[in-house]
Amino acid sequence: MEIFKTKKALQDYLESARLQHKKIALVPTMGALHQGHISLIDYAKPLSDIIVCSIFVNPTQFNDPNDLAKYPRPIANDIQLLEAANCDILFQPSVEEMYSADEKWSLDLGNLANIWEGEKRPGHFQGVTQIVYKLFSLVQPDIACFGQKDFQQVMVIQHMIQVKQLAIELAICPIIRAENGLALSSRNSRLSETALEEALALSRVLSWTKENFQRLPLSELNSEALRQLSASEGVEVEYFAICESRSLEQATSIADDKQYVALLTAWVGGVRLIDNMILN
Ligand code: PAF
Repeated sequence: MEIFKTKKALQDYLESARLQHKKIALVPTMGALHQGHISLIDYAKPLSDIIVCSIFVNPTQFNDPNDLAKYPRPIANDIQLLEAANCDILFQPSVEEMYSADEKWSLDLGNLANIWEGEKRPGHFQGVTQIVYKLFSLVQPDIACFGQKDFQQVMVIQHMIQVKQLAIELAICPIIRAENGLALSSRNSRLSETALEEALALSRVLSWTKENFQRLPLSELNSEALRQLSASEGVEVEYFAICESRSLEQATSIADDKQYVALLTAWVGGVRLIDNMILN
């Protein structure tokens, strides 16, 4: 695997690859890689000739400096995992390489910016789109792979691709779960043994919601899911909502031709976890 730390080195390499008509896939990450990330690389493999994985803990998407400081950075292990997965290129720039001091960025994200993660983490999606746009411009991938785990993030990126009219195929890759149902996340490494057990409530409640989606009215699904979550030891819910999967507006009725997703964010053992499940 080639490791590039500067935009120039990456661009030079990709330019010659492009001249040879190689198809390029981009897997943007913030590192602390796990099987969820590796599944994105595996997804990209048959669809591309060159896979670029970026590892960059992007400061502009953190609104809590504590969260940024605590973000895990196990780079040696990440490199091992990427090599084992046969990733072609790791792009691992510094903050100075990606940002100049006086940069401005603003993208109209409509209501997606104001609801759920947008409401709880003001500015978060501006930071995400700012860095993803930079990576898209730099790599100019044919395909970019993102995990369904960050459902709202994927909708935001889809919106940006449309607004900026980018010729990039967006691949939404399924959530990878441990056998016990816990959605894999870099943040799980900060959970104690007790918190790891307590966190299982999230996928349990989402699975219950999916199982009962066709059977119970929305109001009952909502109230029972919230009751189960508040009865779960160590779990403090930020939001649980059943939403139409494109707009992410909270569902007030169910239409046969629409898709719905349950979004859930909760604090467990001092760690903010997010999970979701498509319901139909
Ligand atoms: O999902 C992530 O890890 C990040 O939000 C991303 C897309 C790499 C942008 O920093």
